[in-house]
Amino acid sequence: MTNAVSPDRRDFFGLALGGLALALAAVSPRAARAQAAGAKLKIATIGAGREGGALGTLFAKEGHPVMFSSRNPDSLKDLVASAGPNAKAGTVAEAVAFGDVVVIAVPYTAMEQIGKDYGPALATKQLVFDVSNPIPRRDGEDFVKKINDQGGAGVASAKMLPGAHVVRAFNAIGSGGLAKAAHRTGEPLGVPIASDDAKAIELASALIKELGFEAVLIGGTAKGKYLVPGTPLGGEHTPAEIRKIAADLT
Ligand SMILES: NC(=O)c1ccc[n+]([C@@H]2O[C@H](COP(=O)([O-])OP(=O)(O)OC[C@H]3O[C@@H](n4cnc5c(N)ncnc54)[C@H](OP(=O)(O)O)[C@@H]3O)[C@@H](O)[C@H]2O)c1
Repeated sequence: MTNAVSPDRRDFFGLALGGLALALAAVSPRAARAQAAGAKLKIATIGAGREGGALGTLFAKEGHPVMFSSRNPDSLKDLVASAGPNAKAGTVAEAVAFGDVVVIAVPYTAMEQIGKDYGPALATKQLVFDVSNPIPRRDGEDFVKKINDQGGAGVASAKMLPGAHVVRAFNAIGSGGLAKAAHRTGEPLGVPIASDDAKAIELASALIKELGFEAVLIGGTAKGKYLVPGTPLGGEHTPAEIRKIAADLT
């Protein structure tokens, strides 16, 4: 697989921050996080509901400056308070302007409009995490069929976000289990990812590792259709289980 990038490889980001993180960890975890926040990539979320809220909170607690967004940012006060001092809320436009990395976690029916409104800005970002899924129960059978006819969520997202450095990730791990699964003891939980963009895969893998998971590349953008609930990759799996399941996917 030409796009395969080991999750263990560190990009410039990991290398630059590795020494700094070690030095700061000697002070205190909280102080280290606060100081490291000045140097860490800024994370924006489009969608700050269950999944966007949970993921943004993990990044904020890891020391990243995070801006959650909503069409009504005042509704995010409780989320911002619980995510801690690195988090704030803004409009979707403010979050897009803020983030080096953007997490999109919205109903899939909103993706097209987001692409139209923010596509050019999103194409300038180092990485866009595509967490959203077409779900028949929420989005309608006809809508999901339309997406699947285009090749599924991976291909459809790439089409709606032209030029963006998109990696599908965290699509089928329930928001309720994320905090507990992050940095779990023993073997890390695997996060299957799909993308055609080697540099974005490398950065995504480093960020996923930072949250205490292990990214497992299952293939290119076209394989993104398997990163939805209800496929064999849905739910929680170890990295080895993900590799085994992915080997049988066509
Ligand atoms: N929940 C999970 O466990 C889970 C796990 C993996 C993946 N996902 C996927 O993640 C996505 C979000 O799921 P969720 O459970 O987090 O949903 P949710 O709790 O209902 O939150 C949806 C979020 O999307 C935002 N949104 C909706 N339409 C928008 C638009 N046109 N422009 C900008 N923001 C918009 C909402 O913001 P406003 O405040 O502006 O309304 C809200 O913050 C879905 O595609 C889902 O399949 C969910």
